[in-house]
Amino acid sequence: MGFGCMGLSQAYGPADEDASVAAIRTALDAGVTLLDTAMSYGGGHNERLVGRAIAGRRDEVVVATKFGIVRGDRGVSLDAHPDRVAGYCDASLKRLGVDVIDLYYLHRVDPEVPLADTIGAMAALVEAGKVRHLGLSEVSPAQIDAARAVHPIAAVEFEWSLSWREPEDDVVPAARAAGAGLVPYSPLGRGLLTGKLPAGPFAPGDFRAADGRFAPDALDRNLTLVAELTRIAGRLGVTTGQLALAWLLARGPDVVPIPGTRNHARVTENAAAAGIALAEDDLTALAAAAPREAWTGDRRSFAAHGTTRTTG
Ligand SMILES: NC(=O)c1ccc[n+]([C@@H]2O[C@H](COP(=O)([O-])OP(=O)(O)OC[C@H]3O[C@@H](n4cnc5c(N)ncnc54)[C@H](OP(=O)(O)O)[C@@H]3O)[C@@H](O)[C@H]2O)c1
Repeated sequence: MGFGCMGLSQAYGPADEDASVAAIRTALDAGVTLLDTAMSYGGGHNERLVGRAIAGRRDEVVVATKFGIVRGDRGVSLDAHPDRVAGYCDASLKRLGVDVIDLYYLHRVDPEVPLADTIGAMAALVEAGKVRHLGLSEVSPAQIDAARAVHPIAAVEFEWSLSWREPEDDVVPAARAAGAGLVPYSPLGRGLLTGKLPAGPFAPGDFRAADGRFAPDALDRNLTLVAELTRIAGRLGVTTGQLALAWLLARGPDVVPIPGTRNHARVTENAAAAGIALAEDDLTALAAAAPREAWTGDRRSFAAHGTTRTTG
């Protein structure tokens, strides 16, 4: 199990700085060895948090960060121009306080730049010893193939959960064919799959307010399915969120989910899901109780707000 750090700097409302550093350390204490961050999260804030948290513990952790989304005073944009990749990498190394990034992702493909050129610039970072492995985030099968023609791809990150299963049709097989590890982001369905969504309207800055799966009608239907998951989780003696994470882990030894939380107890709860092995009967019960086609709402509804390609 990995730990996704994004929510400590953006997307789900405010977070306390010292508590965030402590949350990351709690994840390490609980056996998590993969930390997921990005240069865009909080405009550099998140990488600095990770840097503070891993100071003195560098050898315990695989540091994964990303470039390609630029979050600045004038909003959010994409930039993966080969001339600027090395500069982005140097800035991330500095914020993280490390000599080398273990896994460096292209966060989003830049439509203005040939993908092979971006990957070529990333490969140069591996040669220079600044990066150990390359990853891709939110890519198509064709983009996976184009990238791996330039340099081996160690990991592909994409949204995947019990409630968002489209990638099983294309990205999952393509990433496996490329020999890449699978890193499902938002593995708890952005909180939906925990059965513990905050009551009332989302806090200012919570990006679920613009997500079609959380629109009132869709949410009502989806919560009916979550209630089924909670029933199964209760029978197994685990939490609903742990069940969702264990389901992902059961998809293969190459799957490393990266749940995120600002809450200490939840860090430990989520990490403990790595120890839950679901039996075939449990997986069958899950498939029957919450089938793929029953979930309502499209994450692409973000497009209406112009943020699809830049979320997360
Ligand atoms: N590559 C990309 O484009 C991309 C996009 C999105 C995310 N990501 C990565 O994936 C990571 C995880 O995704 P995510 O944070 O969007 O979604 P997530 O892990 O599916 O869900 C996070 C939400 O669930 C809540 N939560 C977490 N554990 C819980 C528990 N045990 N019980 C109840 N509620 C719980 C959190 O609230 P609290 O904080 O209040 O606990 C938060 O609102 C991010 O941190 C980021 O590193 C990558």
